Formats: sequence, C-alpha cells, structure tokens
Amino acid sequence: MNRDVNRDINKRENDLHTVSVDLGDRSYDVIVGRGALSALSEVVPDAVQRIVVVSQEGIPIADRVEEHLASLGQWSIRRVNIGRSETDKSLSTIETLCEFFAAVGLTRNDLVVGVGGGLVTDVAGFAAAVWHRGTRVVHVATTLLGMVDAAIGGKTGVNLPQGKNLVGAFWQPSGVICDLDALDTLSERELRCGRGEISKYHFLTGDDLAALDLPVRIARCVRIKADIVSGDEREGGLRALLNYGHTLAHAIETVGGHSLAHGEAVAVGLAFAADLAHEMGRIDGSRVDYHRHVVEDVYGLETRPPAGLDRNELMATMARDKKALRGLTFVLDSSNGLEVVEGIDVSLVEKTLSTFLVT
Ligand SMILES: NC(=O)c1ccc[n+]([C@@H]2O[C@H](COP(=O)([O-])OP(=O)(O)OC[C@H]3O[C@@H](n4cnc5c(N)ncnc54)[C@H](O)[C@@H]3O)[C@@H](O)[C@H]2O)c1
Repeated sequence: MNRDVNRDINKRENDLHTVSVDLGDRSYDVIVGRGALSALSEVVPDAVQRIVVVSQEGIPIADRVEEHLASLGQWSIRRVNIGRSETDKSLSTIETLCEFFAAVGLTRNDLVVGVGGGLVTDVAGFAAAVWHRGTRVVHVATTLLGMVDAAIGGKTGVNLPQGKNLVGAFWQPSGVICDLDALDTLSERELRCGRGEISKYHFLTGDDLAALDLPVRIARCVRIKADIVSGDEREGGLRALLNYGHTLAHAIETVGGHSLAHGEAVAVGLAFAADLAHEMGRIDGSRVDYHRHVVEDVYGLETRPPAGLDRNELMATMARDKKALRGLTFVLDSSNGLEVVEGIDVSLVEKTLSTFLVT
C-alpha cells in the first residue's frame, strides 16, 4: 500500500486538515488539527432540532463542544454521560441511551454527537444506528486512538461477556472532528494506546508515520483508513487488513478482563502475528525482529504478553471471534505484504502461543 504521504489531505488556511471519506452520497469529512472544533458547524447536518451529546466524565473538551453547539444554532442540547469501563460498552448502556433519546423526543432528523474515545464513539454510533432505525451522528474524537481509527469508518457496536464487539452495525457518521486540543488532557497511557494502532498502519503501508508532525500523522492515518473504508465499507476483503494484530488482541482483552487497553493489546497482537507468520514460513526472522523494533522502539509499546494469561482461554476466545469464519483467521505478513489467512491449523496457533506466552 505505498502511496504519497500527503495525497488527498487538504491543508486549509487555519492549519486544519480535511480528509474526505468517500462513500458516494454518504461521504463525509474528517477535520483534523488544533482548534478543529471551530469547524464543527461544517459537519452538523441540516434540519436538526435536538442534539444529544454522549460523552463521559473526565473529558474536559465535552463542555466546550456543548458550548460551541449552543452558539451555532437554535436547537435544544442535552448531555448524557456513559460509564468509562469496557464493561459499560454493553447492550444495557444502549438501552439507557435509547430511553434517554425517548425522554428527549429525539427524532430521526435530529443528531447524536459522540464526544470521546473509541468507547464513546462505538456506543454513541451504535445507539444512533438503532434509534429509529438510524439517526445521524457526528463524532468528536478525543483520544489519539479514536482520531486515527475508532471514530472513522462507521463500525459501531458493543461487547458481550463472550467477546468484544460481538453486537454492532455499520453506521457512518455525518462528519468527524479531531481537535488536537483534546489530547492535552489525555494520559500518557492513552497516547501510547493510540501509537499501538498507528504502528499497525506502519506495517500496512510501510510509512514511517512516527517521523511526521502529530497533526499530519493523524491526518495521514485517517487518510489510510478512509481509503480502505472507501474500498471495502463492510469488510468483504481489504478492510479486514485493519484487523492486523487484533485476533489475539481481542482475546487478550477479554481473557485478561481488559487489564490491557485496546492499543496495548494490539501491540502484543502484532508481535504474535509476526511469530505465527514466521512459524508458517511466511516471513524470516529478521522481519520478526523488525516487528518488535517498530512496535517497541519506534512507537514505544510493549510486545510481551502480560503474565498469567491462560492459553486455553485465549484459544477458546479466538475461536469464538466473529472473524473465525472457517478455522482460525489471522492477518499475516508475507513478502507480498499483509494478507488475510483463513483456516489456520489450530494446533499450529496453539504451539506458537505456548512459546509466545513464556518468552
Ligand atoms: N469502531 C472502530 O473501528 C474501532 C477501532 C478501534 C478501537 N475501537 C474501540 O475503541 C475502544 C478504545 O478506545 P480508546 O482507546 O479511545 O479508549 P476509551 O474510549 O476507553 O478512552 C480511554 C480513557 O480516556 C478517557 N478520555 C477520553 N478522551 C479524553 C480526553 N480528551 N482527556 C482525558 N481523558 C479522556 C476516557 O474517559 C477513558 O477513561 C475499544 O472499545 C475498541 O474496541 C473501535
């Protein structure tokens, strides 16, 4: 996936970057930069009378989003905060939100605005997708991971105790704001999580994204994801490559009770995917070392799995993963780049995992 780093990233006068997600009449803009909130009016659709802002406690920019929305129009604005744990990414939270929408009288012509990281935008997006069979949603991404990945592309959903993101819908937003001012209050751990997903794009494209200034780096990641989503909105093929590192990552999150955050789990999953590709003769040892170097030294994440993970539970969870269509499915590296590989022999994965868990 080699390409010109700045292709199709529109740099505007006020240092904002606009990236368009091209989906025909459902195309939308992602506006990236310090102060991008000032462009919120550009992505609020017409005819809105009521707005529900879905956010969490502890996201300071949510107050500014509310104030800014109030200055833009005559609509009514209500705010609802959801919980901060992955266990709050649940069907019961969707029910609570829908009851709130009912109390507010939200119609299909109104608007949900998700202000938060991937947890908020996944939940707010899914609630919008099912409310009146589809109500418009705008995302204001407030974590690095949300900006480069979760808020873009229309995958929404919630977890079940049996696994991550098992219930969901494809529901594209009307627009996405990535205001870097939000990152000023984000913890170092959450920034690291964002770098986990950025390292995934590094393997997808071969680009040294860490070398770019932060606004350009984020816009570039959005461009990569937007191109993939435009080419394969519903994950019939190409989009599945975005799951690089995610097969084991989702299992680690579920089995480990979310002690590792998503981006941290993806970093470990990338290292495991390299080991598995090596075990299958797809890449050589130097490419495995390169994976560890990129994830650890360039993007600053841990590639070792946390202690105490049960191999059998990980295997059982991976087998339940929704991507396990036939046998185990992984995105794996090769001399031709990343590929989705289905029907991988379970005993081979188990053997590689045994070694991986003790190193
Ligand atoms: N839909 C997709 O395509 C997609 C892609 C990747 C990840 N995801 C999902 O995204 C979720 C992870 O998202 P995340 O990494 O953004 O974590 P998160 O949304 O859980 O946020 C992490 C923490 O940071 C806090 N926070 C958010 N913004 C803040 C800010 N500006 N200042 C201070 N604190 C702030 C949150 O309240 C939370 O406590 C997972 O549920 C994952 O499954 C979805």
